Amino acid sequence: MEVIVVPTADAACLRAARIVARLLRAKPDAALALPTGSTPRAIYAELVRQHRDEGLSFARATVFNLDEYVGLPPDHPGGFRQALQDALYRHVDLPDGHAHAPDGQAVDLAAACAAYEGAIASAGGLELALLGLGTDGHIAFNEPTSSFGSRTRLKTLTDETRAANQPAFAAFGTEPVPHHALTVGIATILSARRCLLVAFGAAKASAVARMVEGPLAALVPASALQLHPHATVIVDEAAAEGLALRGYYDAVAAAKPAWQRED
Ligand code: GLP
Repeated sequence: MEVIVVPTADAACLRAARIVARLLRAKPDAALALPTGSTPRAIYAELVRQHRDEGLSFARATVFNLDEYVGLPPDHPGGFRQALQDALYRHVDLPDGHAHAPDGQAVDLAAACAAYEGAIASAGGLELALLGLGTDGHIAFNEPTSSFGSRTRLKTLTDETRAANQPAFAAFGTEPVPHHALTVGIATILSARRCLLVAFGAAKASAVARMVEGPLAALVPASALQLHPHATVIVDEAAAEGLALRGYYDAVAAAKPAWQRED
């Protein structure tokens, strides 16, 4: 796992956006798995800027939302489908039909999950999984105790996750955050050829330390990234606070040969 510590949240997002953009320029037909939440907002803003100013194209890309609440209509403003539309898709040249999301309204949720895995496979598998991090160590909606072997499926959300997501939901009314979601699994994420996780702020410091330096544990779903051959974690100073090997990560970054640099 590569750990990159940068001074600020803005710097973390810029660094991550550059990695995504570089990948897309090298492989324009890549399939990407994308998160919602507050973390990726500045990443998407930078990708939109590069599309507008520097010709970054999504015309041949395929995107897969990592997760979606169960029971919300597709255009519900608190839903993740709508959030990604607003943050990224409608500002770039991503063709209709190239944006996928788990169908949280399906009558047969298990069949919808299987279909989602099929769609990812049909797209050639994920080139990149871009990830945020829950304060409890979850990735996508893989809550603590999720199996490292899990694929897209129904999950019950923890009270901590529902509370963390309430502000985004409350902006659109008084409805509570749903109790259930469909999420890609940890094995689905690990199947991506590259994983890129971004976290910033003191509230994420404990989860970051447990993800990077703690034991592999279903209790910390993001620790599964330790198993991935090409996982990059970008954090700001505040989120790096609990990392025991911080000096080593900085030394690795400083010694990185020019041909390996992505910034
Ligand atoms: C939600 C999403 C995750 C996201 C996490 C962190 O639970 N399902 O994909 O990474 O929250 O959100 P934020 O970036 O707002 O801290």
